[in-house]
Amino acid sequence: MSDTTDHRLAVVILAAGQGTRMRSALPKVLHRIGGRPLVGHVLDTAHALAPADVLVVVRHERDQVAEAVTEAEPAARLVDQDEIPGTGRAVEVALAALPDFSGDVLVLSGDVPLLDAGTLSALLAGHRAGGAAATLMTAVVDDPTGYGRVIRDAAGDVARIVEQKDADDAEVAVREINAGVYVFRAEALRTHLPAVGTDNAQGEKYLTDVPGMLRRAGDRVAASLVSDVTVTYGVNDRAQLAEVGRLLNARTVRRWQLEGVTVMDPATTWIDVTATLEPDVTVLPNTHILRATTIGAGAVVGPDTSLVDCEVGPRATVRRTDATLAVIEADATVGPFAYLRPGTYLHAGGKIGTFVETKNSTIGAGSKVPHLSYIGDTTIGTGVNLGAGAITANYDDLTKHRTEIGDEVHTGSHNVFVAPVRIGDGAKTGAGAVIRKDVPAGALALSVAPQRNVAGWVEKNRPGTKAADVAARARSAQKAGDGPQGQEG
Ligand code: UD1
Ligand code: CA
Repeated sequence: MSDTTDHRLAVVILAAGQGTRMRSALPKVLHRIGGRPLVGHVLDTAHALAPADVLVVVRHERDQVAEAVTEAEPAARLVDQDEIPGTGRAVEVALAALPDFSGDVLVLSGDVPLLDAGTLSALLAGHRAGGAAATLMTAVVDDPTGYGRVIRDAAGDVARIVEQKDADDAEVAVREINAGVYVFRAEALRTHLPAVGTDNAQGEKYLTDVPGMLRRAGDRVAASLVSDVTVTYGVNDRAQLAEVGRLLNARTVRRWQLEGVTVMDPATTWIDVTATLEPDVTVLPNTHILRATTIGAGAVVGPDTSLVDCEVGPRATVRRTDATLAVIEADATVGPFAYLRPGTYLHAGGKIGTFVETKNSTIGAGSKVPHLSYIGDTTIGTGVNLGAGAITANYDDLTKHRTEIGDEVHTGSHNVFVAPVRIGDGAKTGAGAVIRKDVPAGALALSVAPQRNVAGWVEKNRPGTKAADVAARARSAQKAGDGPQGQEG
């Protein structure tokens, strides 16, 4: 680690619990907000504090959680909790993995994702300045349901924490809650955790017993009251997951607004923490900017657009579009109503228009696929215009084949390109053509049989119909030299 490492700090993240209230097959700490698992946000925050060590306590769905932890923070150490349940036991096993450590242990929960490094630095600084054996983060909330309550003595100092399920009526009424975030001197934990019992409503070893034990042993326990209670919100059920996700998103949107991004409707704009936007991007309502998406300066995205792992270049416009793993270069336009699937690469100034689906295809600079098309497994050169209704038939029931279209090709409406097939530079195709064979450079390809008009067919075969009547009238008027038909009425 770099020399900014705080060698007196170890972070322990609790992530072994089952998260019963989520009613989910997925471990709670792997549920996502802002494009990352809950525990990923906590790991990011821990990382920002540059501690000597980060330990994550795991047990429920151990391997799945371990994989996500290692992906988010390769330097984190995993510690397995045994069958003894409770947050106290979780910290006890973590401590066993820090045998020689004598600094401060910051305990975080894998299900409290909104805490920021600034708030934690302040907690740590207060703890170190005050010389307490432990410092808890507390918050005063309107509805303390589910949290441990902070019980203070007559002098106003923290006396102990009581869990809701073990609290009497007077304690339940307390609105100062334990945020589940604490700093302990390592020695304080080493002394008291082994003595924490399981004689409580949940039959667990509570970490929250330790502050009371410290007080009884004559040590000081400090509390740091946070002003913004939202940073302490924990996720225990799906309603809280949505609420915390919304708060994170509001924070993300605001951050980009302050960086120069216009967001017309923050409430319907969702931006993952992993996305990046440049100044003077405009985001219109109901737009989702997800995963590793990047948006270049001056681009306009939305309304009603979802971008997953996309790269949008400067000044590009993307309207009412669903796109995944696509590159949209500078000044290109997409939509409305476009569907860009993985491997779509639209070069500078190009266009993917209305009701167009693309996949695994490159569209060259300035080339346009404006209307009603499916373009799959295709390479299109520069300056191309595909007529409305262009379809690449890339799949022959067995395998996918490529269509290659050169530069400056203009095709007629409603063409089918039966792959594998190549259209040479500068070639043209007629309306309705089904292109099964390669078209040489500069050729005009026609595949529709020449049109044949059978004169008088309607009057002969459909006599007495309205069509026959108007046709007869048109023909006699034409004979009388009244000028070209079709310009009347
Ligand atoms: C805990 C606190 C409570 C506090 C609240 C704040 C205890 C006993 N209670 O309650 O005072 O107000 O957090 O959010 O600590 N975990 C383990 N191993 C276990 C049990 C839990 O690692 O054996 C982990 C969970 O995965 C979770 C965290 O510890 O990330 C908290 O556990 P949870 O069951 O959610 O505790 P709360 O009931 O929320
Ligand atoms: Ca919790």
